[in-house]
Amino acid sequence: MNPAAPQASSLRRRLLRLLLLPLLVLFAVSGVGSYMFALHYANLVYDDWLYDSANSLALEVKRDASGTRLDLSESAQRLFEWDAVDRTYFSVSGTQSGHLGGRTDFPVAPTRAQALRSARVYNTQIDGHPVRAVALELAATDGGEPVMVEVAETLRKRRALAREILLGTLLPQALLIVVAGLLIWLGVRRGLEPLLRVARRLQAQNHRQLQPLADADVPQEAQPLTRSLNSLLERLQASLVSQRLFIADAAHQLRTPLTALKLNIEQAQAEHTLEGMRPLLAQLRISAERAVRLSNQLLSLARTEPEALEALGFERLDLCALAQEVGAEWVPRALAKHVELSFQSDAARIEVDGDPMLLREALNNLLDNAVKYHPGHGAIAVVVAHRPRPSVTIIDDGPGIARELRARVFTRFHRGDRSGNVEGSGLGLAIVQGIAQAHGGQVSLLDGINGRGVGVRLDLPPTSAVAPTPRATAQANANSDLTV
Ligand SMILES: Nc1ncnc2c1ncn2[C@@H]1O[C@H](COP(=O)(O)OP(=O)(O)OP(=O)(O)O)[C@@H](O)[C@H]1O
Ligand SMILES: [Mg+2]
Repeated sequence: MNPAAPQASSLRRRLLRLLLLPLLVLFAVSGVGSYMFALHYANLVYDDWLYDSANSLALEVKRDASGTRLDLSESAQRLFEWDAVDRTYFSVSGTQSGHLGGRTDFPVAPTRAQALRSARVYNTQIDGHPVRAVALELAATDGGEPVMVEVAETLRKRRALAREILLGTLLPQALLIVVAGLLIWLGVRRGLEPLLRVARRLQAQNHRQLQPLADADVPQEAQPLTRSLNSLLERLQASLVSQRLFIADAAHQLRTPLTALKLNIEQAQAEHTLEGMRPLLAQLRISAERAVRLSNQLLSLARTEPEALEALGFERLDLCALAQEVGAEWVPRALAKHVELSFQSDAARIEVDGDPMLLREALNNLLDNAVKYHPGHGAIAVVVAHRPRPSVTIIDDGPGIARELRARVFTRFHRGDRSGNVEGSGLGLAIVQGIAQAHGGQVSLLDGINGRGVGVRLDLPPTSAVAPTPRATAQANANSDLTV
């Protein structure tokens, strides 16, 4: 394994994280909420007790003609203040008589405190301890002044009760979370099973015979994946079949000149004189040339495959000069058939970006066709144009290609019905098409000269256009007779 490669993220872990994290956050929020509720109910219970304590203390406040006093013996006070868990504080004071009993430093009750029957309850601090306090105001009676009775206690009992309530609710909740986590884990495992099944089916594919994956039992959400895989498999299978056919065709085509070579050699070996060997050697040379031409054609085809495009040597070149140069090379062969080969251009210089070797090869193939299929006594023109796009057209007045056959002539190894005895393997136009597409251009078939023959136009993108891309860029051209 490549140590630098990033580790693949786990869908299962991701799903678990996405489901469990919110659950844990909910658990924490519910814990805090439960504690607040528990404290609220603990306060409700203990506030009542505190209120009762304040009331019982109020009973000991005596108001008569001699004044106001708190009638609480020391033992009664100790009894009042006694609590096994919390500390209790109190204070009794009259508006006129002032302090009557208990602590003198009892915090003043806030006026906006929570009401509890005739009293007010509030949180405050005594001696640095947080406490809950009740302030009970005894209204003035006949001859008696208003008296304030305040009782407070520390919060231990309340907190203990809140904790107990909290534990009672949180424990089952925690258990629920664990069970939910387990169920989610199992659910995610089961949920992902169809994907694993697809992976197993893909794994079981025979690379020689790719079959579409059965997806009837695949859930709806995963079906786009299986559909894309199936379409990819279909394209792969088609390309496998076409490659196999191509190899079979290529082998078959190569076998003919190679068999002839072998025969010629055997016959030459049987000859004893040089004179007898001479015609056989000439034959041998022809067979060798055929084999070399075919292997060169196969190499050219391979060079225009998308995988090989990066190796192309694109440069800015003059299409006029290139077409003229290649055309000139074909003049002797054309003249030998009494065919006039002319050159026309609508500009002195037409710049294109391309691989000169490949473009030369394309033009050679087109000129080869125009000359070799021509019956003689006629014309071939090499027409270069810069509008609407840079193009070269090789047009002739030979036998032409019937319209209904035009779509097929670009197929590899396809030869026209009228090819007769003319030699060839049916690769020329396929190579031209591959080269056009490698340049981001296209090939079209047009009518020939004066309603006879055929024209083959090679369109190339203008120099300002983006760099050529593989085959996919070939597009239909509405002006063309036929666009491939
Ligand atoms: N200028 C043309 N005139 C008449 N028929 C043509 C012309 N160009 C191509 N064809 C037809 O199209 C067919 C395919 O041409 P292509 O160049 O692909 O193969 P080929 O010429 O048969 O063989 P190769 O080019 O491999 O030697 C030819 O067999 C021929 O029938
Ligand atoms: Mg050809």
